[in-house]
Amino acid sequence: MDKNRVYFFDTTLRDGEQVPGCQLNTVEKIQVAKQLENLGVDIIEAGFPISSPGDFNSVIEISKAVSEPVICALTRAVEKDIDVAADALKFAKRKRIHTGIGTSESHIKYKFNSTPEEVLERAVKAVKYARRYVDDVEFYAEDAGRTDNVFLARVVEAVIAAGATVVNIPDTTGYCLPSEYGAKIKFLCDNVSNIDKAIISTHCHNDLGMATANTMSGLINGARQCEVTINGVGERAGNTSLEEIAMILKSHNDITLTSGINTQSIYSISRTVSRLMNMPVQPNKAIVGKNAFAHSSGIHQDGVIKNTTTYEIIDPKDIGLDTNSIVLTARSGHAALKFRLDHLGVNLTGLDLDKIYQDFLVLADSKKELNDEDILHLVGKDASKNQTVKINWLQASSGVGMKPHASIGLDVAGKSFEAAAMGNGPVDAAINALRQIIRQNITINEFTIQGVTKGSDDCCKVHMQVEYEGMYYYGYAASTDIVNASVNAYVDAINKIDDLIEK
Ligand code: KIV
Ligand code: ZN
Repeated sequence: MDKNRVYFFDTTLRDGEQVPGCQLNTVEKIQVAKQLENLGVDIIEAGFPISSPGDFNSVIEISKAVSEPVICALTRAVEKDIDVAADALKFAKRKRIHTGIGTSESHIKYKFNSTPEEVLERAVKAVKYARRYVDDVEFYAEDAGRTDNVFLARVVEAVIAAGATVVNIPDTTGYCLPSEYGAKIKFLCDNVSNIDKAIISTHCHNDLGMATANTMSGLINGARQCEVTINGVGERAGNTSLEEIAMILKSHNDITLTSGINTQSIYSISRTVSRLMNMPVQPNKAIVGKNAFAHSSGIHQDGVIKNTTTYEIIDPKDIGLDTNSIVLTARSGHAALKFRLDHLGVNLTGLDLDKIYQDFLVLADSKKELNDEDILHLVGKDASKNQTVKINWLQASSGVGMKPHASIGLDVAGKSFEAAAMGNGPVDAAINALRQIIRQNITINEFTIQGVTKGSDDCCKVHMQVEYEGMYYYGYAASTDIVNASVNAYVDAINKIDDLIEK
């Protein structure tokens, strides 16, 4: 085994997918899993099988769909969880069970109402039980970040003796300082007698913005696996970003650690995950943000034109971002559109491609140049073709000295309806008109409108969260027309309500 090789354990489909409103269906998870395989991740955490039939099924289908990476399933230190995980992994060519228990004082006392000795015993029992099913068992010491190092070392030694092949040291609450987290990993390397029999893994959360720094500190101090997600998605402030760690290892020649990540696939999977999870990437996000390589100040532009290394430490091509890629306009053909879609991780052929191409020509007529976001919105628009509620037509008027009003024609489960209403602006009027037809008590909790580039011909993206009977639903749409985009995002959200029409 190469002692400098870092194993990438991607948990986008487990920890990342726990974000409310970002759940993916099995088909979408398979798409992400295939791209993760292409990206070169070593382990894919495919789900928490006991948590829902959907998760169980996704682990089965991902196991069938990918062959290179190890497929991992999460469990608590509970025999039933482990039985179900082993069953879900039955088709995986290479499989791992990830089991564990909270080890911090607070988890032991408040979560389990237990004692350190009892927790240690449960940890060992769970690892031994999982080893009856698979050879590769990872143990997580939940809240290890706030666990006393001496007790943590006892737990780690005991689970390795019980057969754990990987020991995961999660900073579950994102509390640790990089120096503290690194010292914890070093303490384990120095004080656990059988540590050479297992790989130590980092698993850092970003609550204080230190997930990447903590992960790097862990790796520098002896960890050889990092648990990460695409775009850093994950509960609360998220997990460590895969792309940040991969690019740190690639750019820093002073760190001798290596990985199997094909960094040129980073941009494409970042956009796929963002699109499927309805989670925009913040423009200034390191590595994959829209502005990560945009130099706007005159001094920077001047330097970059003379030589890119003056202000760029990463070549955009290294993450698969070809800044000189073909500009798409109304004169572009199928081939150019397909080239760009492939680049963005969307593989379409035949009639599917033709359909998107027609929509592309319509949008290209109203906007001179189409960028990646525009193209992705076209694909998202087509995905809505099976929706129960569809907008047949929409008209809205507003202006100085007049009351905004709108009228709308809807197709609801095959029947046509029309309505009109006033509002405090054209968007409000249009949604009020729609509510005359779909009368359920749906409230809008979040409504963000974001321009994609600049200029009055810009395409805007709308993200909306609605609430219905205590449940949250997310909608997304984009258009050069702000009223269209807003009403479409609302319709996208309400179409996700299962019993919308029955009531
Ligand atoms: O953050 C955490 O502690 C986890 C474990 C379940 C691995 O996600
Ligand atoms: Zn976590």
